[in-house]
Amino acid sequence: EDQRLQKIASAIRVIPNFPKPGIMFQDITTLLLDPTAFKDTIDLFVERYRSKDISVVAGIEARGFIFGPPIALAIGAKFVPMRKPNKLPGEVISEEYSLEYGTDKMEMHVGAVRAGERALIIDDLIATGGTLCAAIRLLERVGVEVVECACVIELPELKGRDRLGDRPLFVLVEG
Ligand code: PRP
Ligand code: MG
Repeated sequence: EDQRLQKIASAIRVIPNFPKPGIMFQDITTLLLDPTAFKDTIDLFVERYRSKDISVVAGIEARGFIFGPPIALAIGAKFVPMRKPNKLPGEVISEEYSLEYGTDKMEMHVGAVRAGERALIIDDLIATGGTLCAAIRLLERVGVEVVECACVIELPELKGRDRLGDRPLFVLVEG
C-alpha cells in the first residue's frame, strides 16, 4: 500500500506560480496519464468505502468529476455532481462559499438525493476546506448523512481539515 501511495504521489506534478505567483499548483492530469497510478488511486478509495453502506458519491466540479464516477460504479452507489452556478438545468439548491477573493456558489439538483441517504464527498484536493464545507452543507440541508470526505491531496498547512468539524477526512497524499 505504501508503494502504491508513493507512486501516486510521484505521478502528481507540481507547477509553481500557477494560477498566480506563489501558488504551487498540484496537477493531477499527470496522474491520469499513468494508468497504474490512476487505477491504484481509485482502488484505494474503493477498498475503503465498498463496505460502508454508501448510497451517494457526491463529486465536486471539476476534478471530483474525474475521481468520483469510477468510485461510485465500483461501490454500487449513485453519482451526484456538485456544480458551479447556473450549469445544472433542473431545480437546484445552492450554497455560497468564500474564495481567496470574493465568493462562489455550488449547486446540486433537487431530488438527486433523499433524506437519510449516506454520502461520500470526493474532490481532488483540500486546501482551505471551504469547498468541501459547502458540499457538506448542501447535503446536510436535505438530510443526507456525510459519512466521509475524500481527496487525493491535502495541503495540511492550510488546516482545511479543521473546518470540517466532526466529518472525517481521508486523503491519500500530502502536498
Ligand atoms: C480547487 C480544488 C478544490 C478546491 C480546494 O478547485 O480542485 O476543489 O480548489 O480549495 P479549498 O479547500 O480552499 O476550498 P477550484 O476552486 O480551483 O476549481 P476547479 O476544480 O473547478 O478547477
Ligand atoms: Mg476543484
